Amino acid sequence: MPRQTKTRSVFVCDSCGNESSKWEGRCSSCGEWNTLGEMKVSAKRSATGGWTGSTTAIATPLAEVSTESTPRMVFSSAEVNRVLGGGIVSGSLALVAGDPGIGKSTLLLKLASETGHGTKALYATGEESAAQIKMRSNRMNIQTDGLYVLPATNVDQVIEQAQSLKPSLVIIDSIQTMFDESVSSEPGSVAQIRECTRRLLEHAKSSNIPMILSGHVTKGGDIAGPRIMEHMVDVVLHMEGDPVSAWRLLRAMKNRFGSTNEVGVFEMTSSGLKEVEDPSAAFIAERGTESIGSVVIATLEGTRPLLAEVQALTSASMLPTPRRVSSGMDFNRMLLVCAVLGRRAGVNVGGQDIVVNVTGGLHVSEPASDLGVALTIASSARDVPLSPGLAAVGEVGLSGEVRSVPQLDRRIAEADRLGLNRIIVPARQWDKNAKSKSIEVVPASTIRQALQAALPRA
Ligand code: TYD
Ligand code: MG
Repeated sequence: MPRQTKTRSVFVCDSCGNESSKWEGRCSSCGEWNTLGEMKVSAKRSATGGWTGSTTAIATPLAEVSTESTPRMVFSSAEVNRVLGGGIVSGSLALVAGDPGIGKSTLLLKLASETGHGTKALYATGEESAAQIKMRSNRMNIQTDGLYVLPATNVDQVIEQAQSLKPSLVIIDSIQTMFDESVSSEPGSVAQIRECTRRLLEHAKSSNIPMILSGHVTKGGDIAGPRIMEHMVDVVLHMEGDPVSAWRLLRAMKNRFGSTNEVGVFEMTSSGLKEVEDPSAAFIAERGTESIGSVVIATLEGTRPLLAEVQALTSASMLPTPRRVSSGMDFNRMLLVCAVLGRRAGVNVGGQDIVVNVTGGLHVSEPASDLGVALTIASSARDVPLSPGLAAVGEVGLSGEVRSVPQLDRRIAEADRLGLNRIIVPARQWDKNAKSKSIEVVPASTIRQALQAALPRA
C-alpha cells in the first residue's frame, strides 16, 4: 500500500497517550517527564484516528442493514468459539491479553492450526524464531498444513505478507514487539502500540481478514499502557490462571459481536492447551471425604455455573494482630465474613490466624461465595466436619442475613448434576413449591440458620 507522502509530526506521550503538536519536556496531560515521542502522521488525520471506513458517508435505515456480510470463522475449539460468541467475525481485530508465560502464544498457535481444511493462516511473531514455533507445534502435535510463520517485528512487513498470502486468519504475537517506521519511539511504547494497532485494524477491515493480537498485561493490570488498545480493538479476551496451577480461563472482557459473559476453561498440559469439557467436575475432583473447613460453592462465571471448592484453616495466633490470608477470592469480603461470623453467629475468630483458599487457582470474585466461606471458617474454628456432599450459595449481609444471588436455579442444577446431595441457599429466593430435585435444597435466611444446617454437631 503506498504511504501518503505529505506528513506532519505529532508527539505522543508514552505514559498516558496524550497527543501534542510540539515537543515538550513534560507531558501537559499526565505531568510525566521525557515521555513524548515523535510520530509522523499523514497531514489529513490525527494519530488517534480509528477506522472510518469508506470516504463516502451515507446514512442507511437500520432495517435495511444486512448482517450477512459478517460471517464468522469457527474454530475446532468449542471453548474459544463460546468466548468469541460463536467464532471470530471476518475483518475483526481481537486481542488476547494476559501475564507473560500464561499461555497466549500456545493458544494462538493452536487457533492458527484450526482455520479449517484448505485455508491458510499467518502467524507473525516478534518474540520467537521460526524454529521455536516449529518445535512448539511438534510438541503440541497440531495440524500445520496451511500454517505460515513469519518472524518479523516491522508491521509493514507483516501487512505486506498478509496481502500477498491472503490467509483466512492473521496472528500477531505480540503487539508489544511490533514497530512502525514512522514512529520514533521504541517498540512497546504507547505511540508504537497505538500506531501498529491502527495499521493492523485498517488492514483487517479493508481485507476482511480476522486478526488476533496478543498483548502482555502490565503489573497494574493494564494492557500495554493506558488502555488504548482496549478501545481500538473489537474483542478483548483475558487469559487468566494461577501460573502454578494448570487451569487457564479465557474470559471475554469486551466483545462487539457477542456477550462478555462467557468464559472458556482450559488445562495446560505437556502437549499444549486442552479444553476442559466439564470444569465443575474438574474443579471439585480432588475433594476428600474428611472435610473440616471445606465446602463446595456454586459460582457463576459469566452465564456459566461452575462448582469450586473453598477451604479455610484457622489456628490460634501468636501475633498481636492475627494474620488473614485469602487466595482466589477477595480479601475484603473475607474480612467482612469473619466480622459477621463473630458478631452475628457467635463464631469468634478474633484471635485466630485465618487462611482461605479457592482450590485449583480459580479466582472467585462474586459475593455469592460468602456463605461458603463463612461455613468453612466456622467448621475449621469449631473443628467439626462439613458433609462432603454439601454445597452453599448466598451473599452474607452485615446483619447476618443470607442475601439473594443471581440465577440460583442454574447453580442448584449444576450442584445436582455433579452429584452433590445438599445445598444451602438464600431462603427468600427459594420457592418451596418448586419442582423437586434429587438434591436436597436447604433454605437459610440467616447465617446462624445456615450454620445449624451445616454443622449440627457444633
Ligand atoms: P506461552 O504460550 O509461551 O505463554 P505466553 O505467550 O503467554 O507468554 O506458554 C507459557 C508456558 O506454557 C511455558 O512456560 C511452557 C508452558 N507450556 C506447556 O506447559 N505445555 C505446552 O505444550 C506449551 C506449548 C507450553
Ligand atoms: Mg508468548
